[in-house]
Amino acid sequence: MMNRQFLFCLVLLTIPALTVQMCPDGFEEVDGRCFCASTTERTFEMAMYDCMYKAPGSSLVVIDDAEDREDAMFGLSGPVPYWINPNSLDVDFNTPPDVENCYICEAPQCPPTTPLPTVFDYGAAVSAYDNLEATLGPEISAELGMGSFRQDLDLYAGYDGNQLANLPNISGIIIQPERWAVCYASGEGVITGLFLPETRNFDPNVGLPVELPSSAVAVVRDNYPLFFNRYLSNLETDYANSRDDVDFDEVTYGPDANCPYPPRTELGGGFDLDRIPPALCFPIIEREVVDPDPAARAMIVIVTIEVVGDTIWIEILVFRTR
Ligand SMILES: *[C@@H]1O[C@H](CO)[C@@H](O)[C@H](O)[C@H]1NC(C)=O
Repeated sequence: MMNRQFLFCLVLLTIPALTVQMCPDGFEEVDGRCFCASTTERTFEMAMYDCMYKAPGSSLVVIDDAEDREDAMFGLSGPVPYWINPNSLDVDFNTPPDVENCYICEAPQCPPTTPLPTVFDYGAAVSAYDNLEATLGPEISAELGMGSFRQDLDLYAGYDGNQLANLPNISGIIIQPERWAVCYASGEGVITGLFLPETRNFDPNVGLPVELPSSAVAVVRDNYPLFFNRYLSNLETDYANSRDDVDFDEVTYGPDANCPYPPRTELGGGFDLDRIPPALCFPIIEREVVDPDPAARAMIVIVTIEVVGDTIWIEILVFRTR
């Protein structure tokens, strides 16, 4: 029977490690890694299973060198023998697997996430409007109907500081729940959000479409030619290039992903996949177009002006009727 190794701790450190919530519950962050040392003793096999159940992707720590050892032992006082991964290079002792020892697990770290805004900030929305209107200029602002949107936004003045998700629909504005979107930095700080059938109830197994639905893009081009020519003329090409160049990160989004989906993922070419907080949406047109998918009856395209946190986006919402 193969000998199992354990690490004998002689490092006497009692400084508590700083905990940052990038590690799963019960794990401590040391040097960008996540460790959990047991206080109970287990056989080798039970220690291995305990590690697996503590967090997704967690296993007995691998100790290959002094740095691994220092990180894993940080804050632990010894001497106590610990089970570690048998593939470790830096080992003090070998011992039969039925001996009971404490053990150290390591789990993958999740990237820190910034919480989405939950509260409506009327002042920020108004200044976002002013900035966007100044950027777009009078002709494009008129083409998009920014003035009517601004009037409806005024009706929300009394809701400053309220929970976004609980705001009422007033006049032309409807409150959309938290969603996923592909967003496109269209130039001059103007952002176009694409809410596609593939991202609305985002499913990493479905992934992102290879190209944008051209009939939906045509709706925007035909109805808002000034806006389209200035900000979206490269939309389809940029999107197709980004899908060719950037792998939709299997580690982050694949079936074995350990961490919650990050709220923002760079897709290249000016695109991101983003988690969007509840938003105020002001639909400006709705069109039904022929859907290339034979299983769908029609494709509905809705263009809206939308308040997302402290910015204002143009949103292209595409969905299919089945
Ligand atoms: C606002 O309108 C949307 C779309 O019509 C609807 O789904 C939602 O329930 C409405 N919200 C409220 C608070 O009435």
